[in-house]
Amino acid sequence: MQGSRPADDRITALLGSRVVARHRLSAPDPVTGATLTDVVGELVAADAQYLTITTRSGTVRVSRAHLVALKQVPPRPVRRGAAHLAISIEDLQRAMLLGWGAVERGTLGDWQLRASGGFTQRGNSTVPVGSPGRPLREAVDRVEEWYAARLLPACFALAGPEGFRPDDDPLGAELLSRGYTTAGRTLVLTQRTAAVAALDPGGPPVTLTSDLGPQWLLAYGQSRPTVSGTTEKVLLDAAQVRFGAIAPGGGLSQRPGLRAGGAPGTTPVAVARLSVGAGWAGLGAVWTDPAYRGRGLAAHLTARLAAHAQEGGTDLVHLQVEADNGPALRLYRRMGFAVHSAYAYLTAGQSMTP
Ligand SMILES: CC(C)(COP(=O)(O)OP(=O)(O)OC[C@H]1O[C@@H](n2cnc3c(N)ncnc32)[C@H](O)[C@@H]1OP(=O)(O)O)[C@@H](O)C(=O)NCCC(=O)NCCS
Repeated sequence: MQGSRPADDRITALLGSRVVARHRLSAPDPVTGATLTDVVGELVAADAQYLTITTRSGTVRVSRAHLVALKQVPPRPVRRGAAHLAISIEDLQRAMLLGWGAVERGTLGDWQLRASGGFTQRGNSTVPVGSPGRPLREAVDRVEEWYAARLLPACFALAGPEGFRPDDDPLGAELLSRGYTTAGRTLVLTQRTAAVAALDPGGPPVTLTSDLGPQWLLAYGQSRPTVSGTTEKVLLDAAQVRFGAIAPGGGLSQRPGLRAGGAPGTTPVAVARLSVGAGWAGLGAVWTDPAYRGRGLAAHLTARLAAHAQEGGTDLVHLQVEADNGPALRLYRRMGFAVHSAYAYLTAGQSMTP
């Protein structure tokens, strides 16, 4: 954790989040001699003098004058095991919500609705975690109305353990009875950032920027159809975001018979996006120009982004990959990722860009 005292606006932004508050003790601990201690829990209030934190053993007030550092941490694990696998499916879904953007967001009880003019399923689907605060059928009606008002088909990202059947879930059964279609499965993979960083095969320099440059977008646009204005909003919509890129040149040669797709000499040959939210890093938009594949560029970029997250104090990383994307799954498994859970998109009527 950083040693500088957090500013007021940063504290306000963390209200409602699970945090660790490092603060000075009024007297050194008589046994260990320690002068600092940590409190972990939900930050429920902050006034001019105190932070109020709800912990597992009760409510604790931390004097702001004694506060040394405040950092968001991942939701409490619900099962034993490695931290990147011990988080519940619902908590991980909530954490992932912060990593991928949307042009417009809505809520129905706890459910989170996203619309982005049809650009990406993630940006145009509802994450039905928690309670919608009304009977299930009525909730689905409301979601359908919300999307209809935006000229989009209603779509739900229904999560479960790997291999789950949507019709085993009450919401999934309701949607299927309404004629929703299930699109390909997406796997959610997780790992510790340090473990991914340690598997860096090395490679050309990686640039990391918080700005979304036109050349980065040009490279990204070769991986999927983009919608000018919308794509930028979706990619930039996260509390913290970094765009990683590997530039052409520097001794990199193209694969025989293939030509790079972007502007010669300027468009990145590999890109990836990193976001941070709820104490997790999120990796996405990983792409290597076909003319430069099979040289470890994606592995190097993934490792560099994980290292960046780790250096910033974020220990865990998630990503989403379509279950039938063999090359990407091989890459991520090689980089140490494991399957945490899965989700399927259930869409009313027509389907959208994947
Ligand atoms: C998935 C993807 C990003 C991988 O990019 P890449 O830069 O080719 O990845 P790497 O070079 O690290 O690994 C690819 C293969 O090359 C091999 N390789 C890496 N370095 C090598 C080297 N120096 N010599 C020989 N082989 C090498 C890897 O072992 C791997 O082989 P495998 O698929 O049999 O496991 C790329 O295929 C892509 O852009 N796909 C389309 C977009 C996509 O699906 N993105 C993922 C979204 S979740």
